[in-house]
Amino acid sequence: MPSYLQFVLDLLARGDVVIALARNPEKSEGLQNIKDRKNLHIIKADIADAASLKRAAEETAKVTGGSLDVLINNGVHYDKRYVYNTLVDFPSTEELISDFTKSFETNVLGPILTTNAFLPLLKKGTQKKVITLNTGLADTKLTLDIEYPKVTSYSISKAALDMVNVKYAVALKNEGFSFLDISPGLVDTQAPPKPEEMGEVMEMITAFKKGYPDWTPVPMTPAESVKLMLEIIDNLTVEDSGKFVSHKNNREWL
Ligand SMILES: NC(=O)c1ccc[n+]([C@@H]2O[C@H](COP(=O)([O-])OP(=O)(O)OC[C@H]3O[C@@H](n4cnc5c(N)ncnc54)[C@H](OP(=O)(O)O)[C@@H]3O)[C@@H](O)[C@H]2O)c1
Repeated sequence: MPSYLQFVLDLLARGDVVIALARNPEKSEGLQNIKDRKNLHIIKADIADAASLKRAAEETAKVTGGSLDVLINNGVHYDKRYVYNTLVDFPSTEELISDFTKSFETNVLGPILTTNAFLPLLKKGTQKKVITLNTGLADTKLTLDIEYPKVTSYSISKAALDMVNVKYAVALKNEGFSFLDISPGLVDTQAPPKPEEMGEVMEMITAFKKGYPDWTPVPMTPAESVKLMLEIIDNLTVEDSGKFVSHKNNREWL
């Protein structure tokens, strides 16, 4: 199950009103299966398209009366074709530029455009929390420690996203906001690797084991990961604003 769907299900289960943004809601089987659930409002929006986010914020305001308590930035661009390239062996410069452009549009500009579109509603909310999903692969210290050079556009755009979080925290420091980047851990949201990908997967696991020798390479379920993240989000305070933590609420990524 995709992570966003697990967030939606868990938040609905505890009685929250949930606005789920999706660029193709009609193609999301998970959302279609629950579209009639009480308190769920599905709105079409592309996080790389400011105009669609403006419309989504206007529609949200109609549902909520003009406010929003918590924003969760979850969407991500991750092109499997280039995951196992390093910066020095992309198939072509054109493909490198295209992959990095899409990664920055979705993974960096996406959360900025979304946050800005919903900021007027968040200012009227009671919690003023902006949560952005990040990854331990964006940690420069971890990357140096485990010496893993692949997964480039994803890690680099997510490292920039860490600074986005910090810039918002500083800009809105005296307005009661809590901005948090959080890594969900390794979560079972993707299709299992194909036999031809197993060599690369083993190389990544070996690198991770270098940083975390006691780690068992079994992904968490979305339910396990989202439960841990919601505990952290619920207990978040303004003093935490600008932090980037793992699902363990520290800098231990696995
Ligand atoms: N899974 C993990 O192990 C893991 C580990 C570390 C960090 N994370 C982070 O956790 C978050 C969730 O990752 P996930 O793997 O669980 O993915 P997911 O939530 O299952 O899927 C990502 C979603 O992003 C949406 N998206 C992509 N571009 C978009 C756009 N321009 N506008 C609107 N939506 C867009 C995709 O929509 P479509 O359905 O339309 O393609 C997809 O539903 C990500 O930020 C990721 O970096 C995940």
